[in-house]
Amino acid sequence: MAHLIAPSLLSADFLNLQGAIEMLNKSEADWLHFDVMDGVFAPNISFGLPILKAVKKICKKPIDVHLMLIQNDPYILPFKEAGADHLTVHLESSIHLHRTLQGIKQTGMKAGIAINPHTPIAALKDIVQEADLVCLMSVNPGFGGQHFITNTLSKIKELKQLIEQKACSTLIEVDGGVGLNNYREIVAAGANVLVAGNSVYGAIDPIQAILDLKK
Ligand code: DX5
Ligand code: ZN
Repeated sequence: MAHLIAPSLLSADFLNLQGAIEMLNKSEADWLHFDVMDGVFAPNISFGLPILKAVKKICKKPIDVHLMLIQNDPYILPFKEAGADHLTVHLESSIHLHRTLQGIKQTGMKAGIAINPHTPIAALKDIVQEADLVCLMSVNPGFGGQHFITNTLSKIKELKQLIEQKACSTLIEVDGGVGLNNYREIVAAGANVLVAGNSVYGAIDPIQAILDLKK
């Protein structure tokens, strides 16, 4: 399957969110990546439910919500109602991850698991088959525009093997520091979805940047 591109709204101009979404609608982007941070799990606070609700009114692409929260379960339904199509929670903040994924899927959303750069792929061994996607963080959560952690490349390969072993169809998403300089090796390692913040919204021509990342 050809890889998908999910521009991250975190790098958009917040004074012109409408323009950021209209650009996305016109482009070849596959999903919109929407980062939610609580200032506790990640050392930053981004945006949340009211902004998602507004974005949903005009966004024509599936919205891929990445929760970086210390607590997830109370927010499953509110995010569904605000317009999330995919809801990804961090393994590190989930005590009953299996239950949380079931709860997400029951609402009709796709369920994702995100793991931090220090979390081994082995931690996914007994849960990967329950997830529609695994988001491998290739930077530490909190900010756009950081450098790609190259150890992620071996994690992608290891995760791909695990997915093959389990014969499941979980997608591998890579999030952080992805750009024109490295996307080819990330895809070659086995990634299915590339999140791209700065490399899209920081580009002079974001529509062209999305096309370039698809080549
Ligand atoms: C970081 C976020 C990322 C971020 C990626 O906590 O999860 O989605 O927006 O931005 P870039 O592509 O600029 O590294
Ligand atoms: Zn993200």
